[in-house]
Amino acid sequence: MFKTEFLDNIACELEDLKTNGLYKGEYEITSSQSSNIEIYHHNSKKKVLNFCANNYLGLANNQNLIEIAKKTLDNYGLGTASVRFICGTFDLHKKFEQKLAEFLNYEDVITFASCFGANGGVFAALLDENDAIISADLNHASLIDGIRLCKAHRYFYKYNDMAELEKKLQEASRHRNLMIVTDGVFSMDGDIAKLNEICDLAEKYKAILLVDDCHATGLIGENGRGTPEYCKVEGRVDILVSTLGKAFGGTSGGFIASKKNIIEKLRNKARPYLFSNNILPIVCAVGIEIIDMILESKYLIKKLADNTAYFRKKIIEAGFVIHDPEGVHPVVPVMLGDAVLASKFAKMMIEDEGIYVIAFSFPVVPKNTARIRVQISAGHEKEHLDEAIKAFIKVGKKLGVI
Ligand SMILES: Cc1ncc(COP(=O)(O)O)c(C=O)c1O
Repeated sequence: MFKTEFLDNIACELEDLKTNGLYKGEYEITSSQSSNIEIYHHNSKKKVLNFCANNYLGLANNQNLIEIAKKTLDNYGLGTASVRFICGTFDLHKKFEQKLAEFLNYEDVITFASCFGANGGVFAALLDENDAIISADLNHASLIDGIRLCKAHRYFYKYNDMAELEKKLQEASRHRNLMIVTDGVFSMDGDIAKLNEICDLAEKYKAILLVDDCHATGLIGENGRGTPEYCKVEGRVDILVSTLGKAFGGTSGGFIASKKNIIEKLRNKARPYLFSNNILPIVCAVGIEIIDMILESKYLIKKLADNTAYFRKKIIEAGFVIHDPEGVHPVVPVMLGDAVLASKFAKMMIEDEGIYVIAFSFPVVPKNTARIRVQISAGHEKEHLDEAIKAFIKVGKKLGVI
């Protein structure tokens, strides 16, 4: 039985979140995930253009993939009903892991139910109190939490401050193994890590390098092989972690790519792998097909890059401040600063203009850096981009932002 005081305190906290513009509400989507979606709003359905999904390649409602998923459902059923080492390993898991390894040029791959799970397990499985992790300050929450679960000593550097990274590597050098941990793309900013310089430092200090490439696998780099390809450091990133929940049709699941014996150790030691069900067979089948699609044609990667360049140019011309005007990533943070303003902006965009965007505020981003994080997709057509820009200008003028 809850104490009244416990529940009262929670009610106060929730009220505070709302007053400060920090409350995260959820709209219900009543269609498939796509650029055009239908949401449930004030007891009725409303059509909106979606600018906040991680559906980078626009594959979440791809008909061919849906047909493959249906066939796989017929052949393999709904789920695994077991963790991998008991009786939850399907031939599709092995085929998909092998395909991912070949696609990304690694010796082997291990999948997890989520990338959060992959990051939750990788550090404690590989490192202990004799080791040290040197982590970028803006790394994703799952890296932060995974590192917390590991006994290794922790050092932090300002992301992309290479002088500070080197200083921290020197400070940490007394420990047995050093591991540098960075997002490949910092997802709140759309910044790509300086992997070239990070690799140089990793090699200089004999540190292992782990990159979380969730916002890059399948979409960044000429062939979609992510930030190692984009930064021309393929073969120099020791451990690559990524998700199936974004470019990969927005399904779900995560994976780690690395050397064979690292993956073998993770299969035996990573707790979210040992103690949790893995990805569904349909996710494997769809993933295999998506890799083939990417290998066969660069059309979607190119369209996404073109859409991104167009949106970035037009939103800057409209007078908005975006995080990095020189950036190339389809995450485009339109900076507003104040959390209340940002949440009002997003609400007006959705409710008045039919453009689905979301405000990001503390603790997802640092205080006073609230923003609308626009996410461009290869599923967007030029008229979608124009409509969004028109709506940004209208709301921006109403709220005195431009
Ligand atoms: C950089 C990064 N790492 C990890 C994750 C977690 O991925 P998943 O949804 O597969 O758990 C995300 C998801 O938002 C992410 O952006």
